Amino acid sequence: MKVFSTIADFREARSQIKDRVGFVPTMGYLHEGHLALVRWARGDCDAVAVSIFVNPTQFGPNDDFARYPRDADRDLGLLAKEGVDLVFMPRGEEMYPPGFSSWVEVGRLTERLEGAFRPAHFRGVATVVTKLFNIVQPTRAYFGQKDAQQAAVIKRMVRDLNMNLDIVVVPTGREGDGLAISSRNIYLDSEERRAALCLWNSLRRAEDLWSKGERDAETIRQKMISFIQQEPKAKIDYVSIADPETLEELIEVKPPALILLAVWIGKTRLIDALLLGGNLSESAL
Ligand code: PAF
Repeated sequence: MKVFSTIADFREARSQIKDRVGFVPTMGYLHEGHLALVRWARGDCDAVAVSIFVNPTQFGPNDDFARYPRDADRDLGLLAKEGVDLVFMPRGEEMYPPGFSSWVEVGRLTERLEGAFRPAHFRGVATVVTKLFNIVQPTRAYFGQKDAQQAAVIKRMVRDLNMNLDIVVVPTGREGDGLAISSRNIYLDSEERRAALCLWNSLRRAEDLWSKGERDAETIRQKMISFIQQEPKAKIDYVSIADPETLEELIEVKPPALILLAVWIGKTRLIDALLLGGNLSESAL
């Protein structure tokens, strides 16, 4: 496994690979969810590239950029075990040198949900992902379904800007009890860890209502909200039942429908998502 911190060195190594390159962009502090993406890439492609970069431009002033967990040695050990070929681990100035002033804006899709609570978040994500795609030149890039809005935004951007790669959305990795695997789970103490299960359990409740024939989106949404509100440590930012491509709220739940939610558990903000019917990888293509 070769590890690079400069764009020039990474490009030189990338230019030696003529076959299909699968790319997994990450912010490090890797967990089973990231490793699942790496394994999908390994299964699909001839070589695998991973980036590790905690992207400052996607964090707002009140977000957790400074305390975001970092452990480069551990990350590199995990990636070496997975047989990753190239790792790109730039410093902040390599990606955002003085005078940097060009941004990628994806429009309406970025204004709702996460975008409403974290202004400029998707501008930062779209910009860094565009830069990473330009540097890595992947055949395919892999994103987790938990960050369903991010996946929809990236797919839209790739389509709108004619970027020459496929986006693959991989099902969310979950702990044994269903909690979505996330780097932010380490912030949870044991009481909060228990409370955090209300996200997954509310999604399962919604799926159950839907499978029993409930089609009214507002009824399902309200039942999810009431369920989460029973957990004293939980504070809801949003619960949404939306079209997976446009992310517009649905009135009638016809599959494929995407349920997305963001909930604070104590001081930790968690998100999760579930697709009712259909395949997220194909839904917005
Ligand atoms: O999902 C993430 O970890 C980040 O948003 C990404 C895609 C690596 C961009 O910084």
